[in-house]
Amino acid sequence: MSRGQPLPHDSAPLHVTGAARFADDIPLPAGCLHLAFGLSEIACGQIEEMDLSAVHAAPGVVRVITAQDLRARFGAIPDCAPAVPDEPLLSDTGVEYHGRPLFIVVAESHLAARKAARRAKIRYRETKPVLSIDEALEANSRFEQGPVIWARGDAEGAISQAPHQLEGRFEVGGQEHFYLEGQIALALPLEDGMHITASTQHPTEIQHKVAHALHLPMSAVRVETRRMGGGFGGKESQGNWLAVASALAAQITGRACKMRYDRDDDMVITGKRHDLRILYRVGYDDQGRILGLDFTHLMRCGWSQDLSLAVADRAMLHADNCYLLENIRIESHRLKTNTASATAFRGFGGPQGMIGIEQVMDHVAFALGREPLAVRRANFYKDFTDISPGAGRIQTTPYAMEVEDFIGNALVARLEASSAYQARRAAVRAWNASSPFLKRGLALTPVKFGISFTLTWLNQAGALLHLYQDGSLALNHGGTEMGQGLNQKVAQVVAEIFGVQAGEVKITATDTAKVPNTSATAASSGSDLNGAAAREAALTIRQRLAGFMADKHGVAPEAVRFEDGMVRVAGESHPLSRVATWAWQARISLSSTGYYATPKITWDRVQGQGRPFLYFAYGAAVTEVVIDTLTGENRILRADILHDTGSPLNPALDIGQIEGGYVQGAGWLTSEELVWDEKGRLRTHAPSTYKIPACADRPRVFNVALWDAPAREATIGRSKAVGEPPLMLGISAFAALQDAVAEAGGRRIWPALTAPATPEAVLAALTRVQRDV
Ligand code: MTE
Ligand code: MOS
Repeated sequence: MSRGQPLPHDSAPLHVTGAARFADDIPLPAGCLHLAFGLSEIACGQIEEMDLSAVHAAPGVVRVITAQDLRARFGAIPDCAPAVPDEPLLSDTGVEYHGRPLFIVVAESHLAARKAARRAKIRYRETKPVLSIDEALEANSRFEQGPVIWARGDAEGAISQAPHQLEGRFEVGGQEHFYLEGQIALALPLEDGMHITASTQHPTEIQHKVAHALHLPMSAVRVETRRMGGGFGGKESQGNWLAVASALAAQITGRACKMRYDRDDDMVITGKRHDLRILYRVGYDDQGRILGLDFTHLMRCGWSQDLSLAVADRAMLHADNCYLLENIRIESHRLKTNTASATAFRGFGGPQGMIGIEQVMDHVAFALGREPLAVRRANFYKDFTDISPGAGRIQTTPYAMEVEDFIGNALVARLEASSAYQARRAAVRAWNASSPFLKRGLALTPVKFGISFTLTWLNQAGALLHLYQDGSLALNHGGTEMGQGLNQKVAQVVAEIFGVQAGEVKITATDTAKVPNTSATAASSGSDLNGAAAREAALTIRQRLAGFMADKHGVAPEAVRFEDGMVRVAGESHPLSRVATWAWQARISLSSTGYYATPKITWDRVQGQGRPFLYFAYGAAVTEVVIDTLTGENRILRADILHDTGSPLNPALDIGQIEGGYVQGAGWLTSEELVWDEKGRLRTHAPSTYKIPACADRPRVFNVALWDAPAREATIGRSKAVGEPPLMLGISAFAALQDAVAEAGGRRIWPALTAPATPEAVLAALTRVQRDV
């Protein structure tokens, strides 16, 4: 039994010894050239003159490629966008953001290319950029005609008739992905076409964009990805630029071409998590039950559409989180600004939607002077055991999806007990009463995250499995490995079917020539989709072997068992290797594809109705923090997490995802602050100015447990996706900080803390709540 075992990541020894090969570690072919983009120095305007003579003359420069060259050679400027084609690779006319690629330097070395790119002399006619949410609203700068509105019931009427009302405004910052390995691509012009190696979550997208750019059929472009040093959504679409640029340069020069962004360039050029402003108006009763709710999401999407519409949709789809909302209206604005194009980031808008309702819960509890957990409970969906058939009631989300698998009540109750939440609530109050300057805060927040791509046709996957004549197994699937442990999970699924150890199943680099038409490894569905496809392939080959052995012994195929590396039949036991040789000699195919498409899902995004998700993943976290009221400095003291991964495919990897997700979520909401200046320049473009959580920021006490009950839906091994949901457990850190600020103010004034809750933001909130003390 391999599936379900807590095996380490298959590359763990390579990762820790530095032997794992990332794209930059691949030995280069002779004559490989290196690329760098020349970037715009303004956020908005027109290019009047581009003098690249100094670039051409710089040491090591082989060629400079401009928009004009591309038009002359390819008829048009190739596009890099994942959705609507609004991202021309280069520009010699308009400039849409500071850091926009304008031209490509092709040089003998990485450093030579970068140095030369800086020697351009460009004259611009600068116009005033649209940078902020307010500026975008004022200019009506947006990606759709108007806001997207989804509604259920009568929010307006319910709010006005409710015993209590309140409203609020909540600013939430963006987030830099800060994958340790930056964006990179390598293009080899081969006889069969273009071969690309890229650090990407979406090899098929790169294949598609490169084919389009070079006017080649997709069959003439092959993309390979062994692993990424982190993606976090930042390599769903952002790698297109490097791959398209490298492929074009390789086509033009006939030489291998490689492009790797320097860290600062990476942070300036590529998109980040969408920041947003959330406006809310809520009507509620004495218990804190929400009777009517109106949300407005104002999302800053940047200069191009990228994946923003789907991200903003997912924010709307998570505006309910764990709470039954009968009367709700959500209005979502997708604002176009002269900044890098905001993109996918772990949770894909879900975190932004979810934090809105959590803020509402805390605001309502604060206004009523009630314990926040009691208010949350008063609004929870019912656990599915309470609404099982015959209970006479169907509960649905605001978008009319039945919530059939809710376990929030039971899960939160277990966490409440295991974390000693109530006792610690009292202890925190007592501690604060005797501590004049340091104040503690405590919060429990739950997570319900929908699993499936909202673009229904992306919910499919393929796999290709070979059993060689020596009994070794080589598997390829459409997913990509970015540290999450996908390959190990899929190997465990296949190993179980053949009764071998996971290490016996070799998973080769993701390759568009082996498994075609793949979806991005995203939406947390990598193991759900690819695990199920690999299972199909494995079962097909096992059935062939079982049939062959059964025929030999005159027994039924079901009587053939695969266990402990052996094939057992009619009292005999043979190693899988021997059976593979016999089957090959008997001319039985030992190779198979596998395919999976997620069942049950239907979604109408225009109406905002349907079943976009196969199921939900759940979790909850309790965080305790302390703030220094003199400086705003703060620490996470302890976090307790209970998270639902169904029957885990690999509990060790799942716990790793939960810990990492929590820390990344807490980082988003505490220390990670993106700052643009008034000219639209990103000022936080290096680790010196952008603070991601370090080892020391991990909670000192960090208790992570798995819920460990099978998923309700027939997912692979009844497991649940785990990649993104835990990020939203980090919301509890923010809520705890806000609780500490409220304590410091004697719970008289609502802190209205902004995210990220940096020391500055905490101090500002303290100033608000300590008014007229
Ligand atoms: N974990 C690591 N170590 N590195 C990553 O880049 N990306 C996250 C999550 N966990 C990521 C990660 C994101 S955004 C997603 S969508 C999922 O992993 C993708 O992988 P999965 O579908 O196999 O869970
Ligand atoms: Mo993850 S944001 O879906 O790549």
